[in-house]
Amino acid sequence: MTRILAGHSLGAALFLSLFFAVFGGAARAQEGEAVFNKLCVNCHKDGSPTQAPLPDVLRKMSSENILDALENGKMKAIAQRLSAADRMAVAKFLGTATSETIPQSAYCSSPGPVMANAPGWMGGGIDLINSRYQTAENAGLTAATVPNLKLKWAFGFPGATTAFGIPSIFGGRVLIGSQHGQVFSLDAKTGCIRWMYQATEGVRTGFVMSADNKTVYFGDQHAIVHALDFESGKELWETKIDDHPLAIVTGTPKLVDGRLYVPLSGGEEEVNAGNPDYKCCTLRGAMVALNAADGKQIWKTFTVDAPKLLGKTAKGTEIWGPNGASLWTSPTVDTAKGLLYIGTGVNYTGPNTKYSDALLAFDMKTGKIVWSNQLLANDVYNFGCLAEKPELQTNCPKNKGYNMDIGVSPILRSLGGGKRILLVGMKNGLVFGIDPDKKGKILWQTRVSPGGLQGGLIWGSAADEKSVYYSISDWVPPQPENGGGVVSIDIATGKVNWRTPAPKPACLAIKGCSAGQPGAVALISGVVFATSLDGHLRAYSTTDGKIIWDYDTLRDFDTVNGIKAHGGSMNGTGPSVAGGMVFSNSGYSRNPVMPGNVFLAFGVE
Ligand code: HEC
Repeated sequence: MTRILAGHSLGAALFLSLFFAVFGGAARAQEGEAVFNKLCVNCHKDGSPTQAPLPDVLRKMSSENILDALENGKMKAIAQRLSAADRMAVAKFLGTATSETIPQSAYCSSPGPVMANAPGWMGGGIDLINSRYQTAENAGLTAATVPNLKLKWAFGFPGATTAFGIPSIFGGRVLIGSQHGQVFSLDAKTGCIRWMYQATEGVRTGFVMSADNKTVYFGDQHAIVHALDFESGKELWETKIDDHPLAIVTGTPKLVDGRLYVPLSGGEEEVNAGNPDYKCCTLRGAMVALNAADGKQIWKTFTVDAPKLLGKTAKGTEIWGPNGASLWTSPTVDTAKGLLYIGTGVNYTGPNTKYSDALLAFDMKTGKIVWSNQLLANDVYNFGCLAEKPELQTNCPKNKGYNMDIGVSPILRSLGGGKRILLVGMKNGLVFGIDPDKKGKILWQTRVSPGGLQGGLIWGSAADEKSVYYSISDWVPPQPENGGGVVSIDIATGKVNWRTPAPKPACLAIKGCSAGQPGAVALISGVVFATSLDGHLRAYSTTDGKIIWDYDTLRDFDTVNGIKAHGGSMNGTGPSVAGGMVFSNSGYSRNPVMPGNVFLAFGVE
């Protein structure tokens, strides 16, 4: 396909300034406020179960970026009901007039060769089994040197309130996506920019590299998969893998033998269902196989059948189903059996289907689902169920479930003697040891936390040959001291080796502070790294869980690219480690956690 929105933000900026020049003034500002109070404030307010960013957070964005969210981005389905003039007015009312731009001086001054053999971190999982375990040699760090880690450089994302991309590392460069769709290739040592690429929507996934080290692949929040030349950042192809307006790619694709396997998820459809006029719901999770050479689809397997009209809500809005069973995470590749393993999310409305909240095994050749194990049945849920007023709850299904999704990538490990195990964590606080060679039979299950809407295990785990490590979310807004902790579990038995509770947050006086730890952990020999919603990046000894290094990112940073930056809550992503350096984002804008826009690099020398 062609670049449908190429240069759209520039176009929007020009249009916006022209528009305000002609119609600007107090009248529009009042209209903007009126639109906000009528349509937006229902979700964008304190205590809203949708966790929409607060108006103060939106005010940090430029009018241009806000307009983009309303016309092309996450708020498109909601803002469709507004006239173009009202969208402009509300964007102007909320946002800043100008947007920060990155100065030319932030670009590397010398070409600098790609060091093909430099240690790397592929995608989010580091390898095909999602171990998030960096070897001692490639980590360039040990339990003895980690306490000496110092901040080497900080990089600011312009106009961003959230830093949610997964850093991937190749050839001495670190690739990172951003909220407004820029992808940066940065020199790992200095943070200077090798190139920047503009996708049409936010980029949360990590990046995978071709076998010849020439092409990188990733997905964006418009469900577009991109292939770029690694050296120059030039686009080679892009493919939109689903036409649903709310379809996104959050899990990093896997690349095996010239094929990309891309998980598709449901973005904000369950959030949109909080609007009683929204016809809920038609989005379906899917696994899509693409030819890595040209982006052409080889197969696509949906996790539920095509939705049909099922009836009407009390308010008279159409109900569609089945739907959901999104794939939020990166699949795990079983090269021996030619299978992909991945967990799914909830159904948004009835009927409950057998592939929701389930572990699925896809045949890599044909896309056929060869076995499944539903870890939680009858989990039918959408944000209508969370609305405070009964008249806003009409989209909530009759027998509502628990909203538990599987967001953590499974890890495939060997137990010796030809036995293997899949390790899967879930939002309900359970960790499962599953036999991939017995169609997903449960070998053990261990409860590590109470679990819940914000909790349990959300984004990512790490495992070596003996233990699997999880960070625990379980934040309970507005109780900032609740939740958090890191746990080590024996993979053979499911027994807890150790558990370290979250330290008491230092930011208790700040709105959005929380001890919760939803982010993914990263493992090197002897040390596990974990982030937290109070803005800390910590290193734990794998022997006993003792915290051996702790860095508070909740502050302003001087950045190498001249953009004003601040750390905040750490969520969604996790650190990546290679070549003696640790990379991590900080800042998350979903209310009630703390926004921020910084990308940090730590090293020891
Ligand atoms: C049904 C609830 C709901 C309504 C109504 C709503 N929003 Fe949102 N909005 C959200 C949620 C939830 C998010 C966070 C999405 C995310 O981060 O994935 C969000 C995010 C945003 C963002 C940030 C987008 C980004 O790229 O990070 C902007 C800007 C925004 N909303 C503006 C508005 C405006 C302006 C209106 C009114 C015209 C509005 N919203 C109405 C729920 C809502």
